Amino acid sequence: MKNAFVLALSLVSLTALGQSQPKPVPPATPQYRPAYHFTPAAHWMNDPNGMVYYKGTYHLFFQHYPEGMEWGPMHWGHATSQDLVSWKEQSIALFPDKLGMIFSGSAVVDENNTSGFGKNGQVPMVAIFTHHNPDEEKKGTQKHQYQSLAYSLDEGKTWTKYEGNPVLPNPGIQDFRDPKVSWNTVAKKWVMTLATKDRITFYSSPNLKEWTKLSEFGEKLGAHGGVWECPDLFPLTLNGKTYWVLLVSINPGGPNGGSATQYFVGQFDGKTFTPQTITQKWIDWGKDDYAGVTWSNTGARKIFLGWMSNWEYANQAPTSPWRSAMTTPRDLALKQVGQEIYLTSSPAPEVAKLAQSAQTLKNLTAKSELGLSDKIKLTSPQFQLKLTSKQLQEFALVLSNAGGEELVIGYDKQANQYYIDRSKAGLTSFSDKFSGRHTGPRLATSPAADLTLLFDATSVELFADGGLTTMTEIFFPKQPFTQLKLRSGTGITFDALSYSKLAVAVK
Ligand code: FRU
Repeated sequence: MKNAFVLALSLVSLTALGQSQPKPVPPATPQYRPAYHFTPAAHWMNDPNGMVYYKGTYHLFFQHYPEGMEWGPMHWGHATSQDLVSWKEQSIALFPDKLGMIFSGSAVVDENNTSGFGKNGQVPMVAIFTHHNPDEEKKGTQKHQYQSLAYSLDEGKTWTKYEGNPVLPNPGIQDFRDPKVSWNTVAKKWVMTLATKDRITFYSSPNLKEWTKLSEFGEKLGAHGGVWECPDLFPLTLNGKTYWVLLVSINPGGPNGGSATQYFVGQFDGKTFTPQTITQKWIDWGKDDYAGVTWSNTGARKIFLGWMSNWEYANQAPTSPWRSAMTTPRDLALKQVGQEIYLTSSPAPEVAKLAQSAQTLKNLTAKSELGLSDKIKLTSPQFQLKLTSKQLQEFALVLSNAGGEELVIGYDKQANQYYIDRSKAGLTSFSDKFSGRHTGPRLATSPAADLTLLFDATSVELFADGGLTTMTEIFFPKQPFTQLKLRSGTGITFDALSYSKLAVAVK
């Protein structure tokens, strides 16, 4: 969401459209349908919501407008997966009601039935979400967003809204949303991490129904180019020591424009979050990874997934009859570089299981230009490339098609930056914010580098240096990329470049 003003505008335009007459659906673009990234069968999607793992199933709920291809009155769509790469869309979990639309939030497995929603020994799955009330918004009270509950006693299939909603009323803060709840073993309570305009507010509860404010974080720290949204708070260990990671999405104000997710590494004592350093870091430097959070109930493993778009142009993306996909699920870890502790993102190991017909080219030296198309045939839009070099130098990896379009992914040694240039990669005119060359700093200090690149029909995800620098970008070529080459002015040797097809049935 750009900000409340734009939200208000979009609501006005939706009202003007009568909401029952969404725009006509443009001609279908099956060639842009990703295979292993989740997309709804039809209509609008934004943030991942309520991500929870239970009894062998990963649940992914999502912001969804099931009547149109643009953002509209929000529902929670639902999809499930056993392996994080093949998804089955389920029926809509939460519909708007008299308290408002269903904005972003989280879900937990209430194993000990602290909420009392469980009956006859059934373990309740509880969703904690924001109700956004457009009527209240029009009154200008600033109290139009508040937190509510719904529960499921059949492992997420059907949901009942709690009759006591809202459980956390709004004290008068215009942006008061996106609760992420987890059980805190120090406080022995549920802790809610909530985006409250320009900061995070933490609350605690013994039963998910009654909430007490604990503390605030970030009013004067981190990036503030836009409103804070969709936070997450979770522990990770590094060399036997536990650190807490606080994710905060921000829109606009991302490093390459528009939406992005910053994070802080620090300590959380059950009440207060104290960062190690006051400057934000970015989980993904590309333009298309927003509102990402982690699955709950996965133990020490923290699996992250974001919305693969950007509020700058999400409503104009040229796909049909659906709009938007999610990123690849990523395993998060910590890594120390100098004095700083960073998050690393790596494709969930489940993605590697899709790899087929691997081909490895060894000791590959590229000077000026090296065509690879005679060795590597890009026969499918879904594939993975892994490159390792003992001595990273300036290079560009170019994917192109017969129509002269090209997507360039590379490293600029002078600027010490990785980049993705999609300015000639296909359709760009749907938004003047889309085209461009976007950069992320190389944070690793070693001369040796490793890169993993995941491609799907309309996306590339770059994980460089063990995932210290991650970049996600979408693109829309007029025909698939079939050619691959390397360019390097100064010359570079890759000790290995391996290619594998990622084979999944295209939906
Ligand atoms: C983030 C966001 C959330 C909000 C939801 C509304 O993209 O703006 O803050 O809950 O989208 O769809």
